[in-house]
Amino acid sequence: MKPLIIANWKANPSTLNKAKKLFEGVAAGLTKTKAEAVICPPFLYLRELANSGKIKLGAQDVFWQEGAFTGQISAKMLKDAGCSYVIIGHSERRALGETDEMVNKKMKTAIPAKLFPILCIGESKQEREEGRTKEVLERQLILGLKDISGPKLQSSRFIIAYEPIWAISTTSSHENCDFENALSIQILIKKIVLKIYNQQNFRKIRVIFGGNVNASNVLGYIEESRMGGVLVGGASLEVKRFIAILRKF
Ligand code: PGA
Repeated sequence: MKPLIIANWKANPSTLNKAKKLFEGVAAGLTKTKAEAVICPPFLYLRELANSGKIKLGAQDVFWQEGAFTGQISAKMLKDAGCSYVIIGHSERRALGETDEMVNKKMKTAIPAKLFPILCIGESKQEREEGRTKEVLERQLILGLKDISGPKLQSSRFIIAYEPIWAISTTSSHENCDFENALSIQILIKKIVLKIYNQQNFRKIRVIFGGNVNASNVLGYIEESRMGGVLVGGASLEVKRFIAILRKF
């Protein structure tokens, strides 16, 4: 399986011109890598970037309905704009009030629309220090994946991103997650998902890692922690830094 390297631009950059430059720069550097790249820009840039067809795109959020919901964007709209993936439940959205129930509704709207959801889970520094990591991840997975089933559902229909909040580069006093810790969580997540679905093929679920990933640690997360990919924030905002990650493969 090729490692999946997903860029999460968050609310960056500030103009379409800058977004195009960053996107084109990454596209030009894609020749020397065996990894698969996905870019998740702000909603407004999606359609314009999708027109180039050079790199698969993802959105950073989705809403579960259409109609009288001011400011929201639906799964169909994202699909129509050229999106293939969608990040759901990022900790920065959960910090603004997104609950596990909302995350679940978003998962349920993305899967039938054939948008690959990237379900983000992860514990805070305090939860980690209180020894509650397992409990938090279990809750986020059980509630986030609630009632998502059916004979057609396969492990390849969604991706789980483990993003410990304390390891995200922009959190104050952030710490890197070591490879051994990431490996044990990767194994734990697969066990929980297997328990939820009780199906052997869910052992193959793709778990990726996010939290200050850069060119000097990406191989560790893929090889030592056996992650199926990474979600990159800060280091995806400069062509050179993002290409350096891709070229490790
Ligand atoms: P970071 O962000 O790479 O800047 O730590 C990752 C994320 O929040 O998805």
